[in-house]
Amino acid sequence: MGNRQSAMDNRNMPSPLWLNGAVLPMSDARIGIEDRGFQFADGVYEVIRLYAGRPYTLSPHLHRLARSAADIGIPLPMPIDRLAQEILAFIPKSDVGEGMIYLQLTRGVAPRNHVFPPAAEIRPTLLFYARPLPPIPPVGQGTPVKLSTQPDDRWRRCWIKSTALLANVLAKNAAVESGADEAVFLDPLDNTVSECSASNLFAVIDGVLITHPVGPKVLPGITREEIFAAAAVLDIKTVERPLTLDQAQAADELFISSTTREIATVSHWDNSPLPTVHGPLTTALHANLKERVRRDTER
Ligand code: PDD
Repeated sequence: MGNRQSAMDNRNMPSPLWLNGAVLPMSDARIGIEDRGFQFADGVYEVIRLYAGRPYTLSPHLHRLARSAADIGIPLPMPIDRLAQEILAFIPKSDVGEGMIYLQLTRGVAPRNHVFPPAAEIRPTLLFYARPLPPIPPVGQGTPVKLSTQPDDRWRRCWIKSTALLANVLAKNAAVESGADEAVFLDPLDNTVSECSASNLFAVIDGVLITHPVGPKVLPGITREEIFAAAAVLDIKTVERPLTLDQAQAADELFISSTTREIATVSHWDNSPLPTVHGPLTTALHANLKERVRRDTER
C-alpha cells in the first residue's frame, strides 16, 4: 500500500488512539477492568496543545510527565525522546489541527490491591489521542472568565499531575452551578488562594506579576513557565507568593493560564464585576506568549 493510501486510511479512521505502542480506532481499544488507573486513579496525565497540527512545548510537557510518574513510582515505558517521536508520528493520523493531545499513564492492570504490584510485574498503560478544540482567540478578544471561590479539599501533592481529579471536578461543577466558569481554590486556614481547578492564577499588583509558588497546592503549569519567560523579556517583575482572597480580588489585573486557554482574562469573581478586564500587562504578556507559540509551532 502506498503512502498516500495509508494516509487516506488514517484520515478515515474514526478517532484513532495510541495505546501501548499500537494505533487503533478509539472505539476498538480495550483496557483491563483491573487497570489501576480505573480502580485507584493510580496514574498521571498531560494535556498538550496543538496549533495547526504542531504541539506547543512538547518537551516540557513530557519532562513534567516523567517527574509526575517518578514521584509516584510509575516507570515510563519508553524514554521521553521516543515518546515525543511517537506523538509527532501520531498527530497526522488523527487529522486534528487545532486541538490537544490527551496523554495518560497508569500503573497498569494487576489484581485489585492497594499495595503496588512487585516492580518486575508492573506493565504500565500508556495511551494518547488527539481532540479538536476551537482556536484560541487573538489577544484581548477571548471571552473573559468568571471565577468562583471554592474550598481547597485536594490532596497536598498538587505538583503531581494526577488523574485523581475528583476534588477539581467537584469544585469546577460547584463554580459552574454558581454561574461561573472556573473555580479558584481557597485555603480556609489562612484565607489564601492558590490556583484554579484546571488553570494557574496570576495577579498584577503595582506593576508586579504575582502567582502562588508551585508545590503542595499548585501544579507547575507549563503555560505558567512560558509566562515567566515572557515577563523576563518584557522586564516585568515577578514574585511567587500566596495572596489572600482580598488581595487577589483587589488586584489591578487578574488572569488565568493553561495549555488549552493560553491566558484568559477575568470579568467577575464571586458574581462581582472586576473594574479592569483586559489589563495592559496581561495584554503584553499574552502577545508575547502568542509570539512564543508562533515561533515554536511554525518551525
Ligand atoms: N489543566 N493547574 C491545574 C490544577 C491544572 O489542571 C492545569 C492544567 C494547570 C495549568 O497547567 P498547564 O499550563 O501546564 O496546562 C494548572 C489541564 C489543561 C487539564 O486538566 O485539562
